[in-house]
Amino acid sequence: MNYFDNVCNVAVKDDAIILAIESSCDETAASVIRGGREILSSVIMSSSTEHVKFGGVVPEIASRAHTTAISLTVEKAVSDANIKLSDIDAVAVTYGAGLLGALLVGVSYAKSLAYSLGVPLIPVSHIRGHLAAAYLADVTLKPPFISILASGGHTAVIAVENYYDFKILGQTLDDAVGEAFDKVARVLKLEYPGGPNIEKLAVSGSNSVKLPVMLKGKKGYDFSYSGLKTAVINYVHKFEQNGEEFNKADVACSFQTAAVSVLIQKAIMAAEETGITTVTVGGGVAANGFLRSELQKECEKRGYRLILPQKKYCTDNAAMIGAEGYLQYKIKNFASLDLNAKASVSLK
Ligand code: KG4
Ligand code: ZN
Repeated sequence: MNYFDNVCNVAVKDDAIILAIESSCDETAASVIRGGREILSSVIMSSSTEHVKFGGVVPEIASRAHTTAISLTVEKAVSDANIKLSDIDAVAVTYGAGLLGALLVGVSYAKSLAYSLGVPLIPVSHIRGHLAAAYLADVTLKPPFISILASGGHTAVIAVENYYDFKILGQTLDDAVGEAFDKVARVLKLEYPGGPNIEKLAVSGSNSVKLPVMLKGKKGYDFSYSGLKTAVINYVHKFEQNGEEFNKADVACSFQTAAVSVLIQKAIMAAEETGITTVTVGGGVAANGFLRSELQKECEKRGYRLILPQKKYCTDNAAMIGAEGYLQYKIKNFASLDLNAKASVSLK
């Protein structure tokens, strides 16, 4: 029997130990998860400082950094978890969406490891991984819940109906919210990655710059970030062309307020309209302190249950890939050794 037929015959275990690998962008990450919810280890090595001088992730540099970091990252995840390689029941890996060269490093490594251990290889969508981070934040969390997915590539309000199916209630019609944070950071001459730097600067500013209100308050759940982004860019350029000073912190604060409040408003509207009163968040922008505290206030007001994954499980990590990998393991969604990386995967 070949590798794939063999692994398809394994009996799935409730307390399976899954080694998860993530390499879709500039983080090389590995994690060991037991029973889908218990984090035995989570290791993240980032090449972000190597991209700073270019103002954004350089795919070739990211791929090379993954190649250098992957073995060490996996070895550390295994030793931190205090397990042996032979304890691993399955290997989960992000196969998309992301930078193709970067993804291929993780996918190739995961394939070799799964093959050599004779255990299933589980293909995981990075987007589903971000949603699954909520399961790590509260071991009692069960669908249905409303989730705000807010990352560098995606922005959506989602109704998670059960562990496998979800309904996209609304999504961005153009730029992702993280992308808007990064572009606005760049025009304010803040270093990459822009999101956290906008958040820091916004603390000393006020919400006093008039910006377009996007689709906030409109019926429907879709978003649009390109108008907001362009308005900020035009505002800054106008001052620069006239050689005039402007208050950067006020711009950061006003942009952050506009970008985040629409997400919160749509999520609350989703909870009200569906009657689903548990709300979660996922994706890098969900690490934003303003988003977290405002959402907390709105949920408290209405008596909704809010599950906020720790910030380190909102930005890219492998623990969330292990959480989603476990769900796929339970239904034997195993890949054969011809698994390929994909630059884009559908949101669903
Ligand atoms: O989920 P993520 O790490 O990678 C993708 O899957 O895209 O999200 C990265 C995005 C970047 O645009 C980054 O600027 C943004 O998340 N981000 C933040 C914060 N931390 C990361 N945006 C706002 N505030 C933050 N604290
Ligand atoms: Zn991500």
